[in-house]
Amino acid sequence: MGAREVGLPERVPSESGLPSRVTIWEVGARDGLQNEQTVVPVEVKLEFLDRLAGAGLTTLEATSFVHPKWVPQLADAEELLAGLRRRDGVRYPVLVPNERGLDRALAAGVAHIAVFGSATETFAKRNLNSTVDSQFAMFAPVVSRAREAGLDVRGYLSMCFGDPWEGAVDAEQVVRVGTRLLELGCSQLSLGDTIGVATPGQVERLLAGFAGAGVPVDRLAVHFHDTYGQALSNTLAALRLGVSTVDSSAGGLGGCPYAESATGNLATEDLVWMLDGLGIEHGVDLDALVTTSAWMAERLGRPSPSRVVKALAG
Ligand code: HMG
Ligand code: MG
Repeated sequence: MGAREVGLPERVPSESGLPSRVTIWEVGARDGLQNEQTVVPVEVKLEFLDRLAGAGLTTLEATSFVHPKWVPQLADAEELLAGLRRRDGVRYPVLVPNERGLDRALAAGVAHIAVFGSATETFAKRNLNSTVDSQFAMFAPVVSRAREAGLDVRGYLSMCFGDPWEGAVDAEQVVRVGTRLLELGCSQLSLGDTIGVATPGQVERLLAGFAGAGVPVDRLAVHFHDTYGQALSNTLAALRLGVSTVDSSAGGLGGCPYAESATGNLATEDLVWMLDGLGIEHGVDLDALVTTSAWMAERLGRPSPSRVVKALAG
């Protein structure tokens, strides 16, 4: 008998002060598809985004305006934005590293962007051809110009817990660099476990570090990759500490082309299953989402790594 037939997940709210509603920041079309070996045709990306919106997701990170040689999988950003069937109540943020990227994003009519910084030197070099310090010189005019143009700007911070070249990452360093991104004018900071090595105690320590630095928890989001199977546990730890925006990718697509050990993000379906069980609102139709991820897995020619998709699809 499948889980659906027995009516699971049983709804048992936690007593421990979890948020009543979570915003799911869906990154499958960007973080997911940027790491595919092949370039997914733009028509497939557009249908994917439209199906995700149809499943009730209201934040769909659509693509990146980065150098096309660095991330050829997203070189069709202009074409994608031009073909997007924008739905009311859905936002479509895009990644922008520098002013050249911002010019392209503005020309494409975007309303939400995200800059993406690194907490470590090695990844700043590999991902942005920059340093921890000089990435701020690159972001500063992007953030100020974007805000003047009325755009919302999110900040990502990568390698918040572990770095494949540098090992464990000092939480104080992460708080220092993350606070600088917020001070630059980012409305929200997404804390990235880029290679998926974090465990819940680390999450608690880092969030306590931000709280100690005076950063309100509603300005923080979490972004877990699931390399070591910890993404859902880490998410629960963050929810218990008041975080209410969680990044995830449909079907668990993902990785990062400049961090080889990274696998997919926390799967949106796995997140939704847990939120459902805890009685936390999210607005997503799980069946429609699973159908979408199964459809995408067929396009990509391999099964979704999401446990919930495996349990419910077909
Ligand atoms: P660079 O080579 O230092 O760039 O790359 P540059 O400023 O020296 O410029 C070189 C040439 O590139 C110039 O052209 C520029 O115009 C052009 P030329 O004058 O030689 O003809 N150029 C661009 N063209 C198009 N779009 C642009 C752009 N910028 C410059 N935006 C750069 C620096 C930042 C551009 C490069 O390193 C880059 O594109 N990096 C992006 C890497 C990336 O997208 N990584 C994945 C996203 S991050 C992630 O996945 C982590 C996250 O999920 C959170 C987590 O998991 O931790 C967010
Ligand atoms: Mg990521």
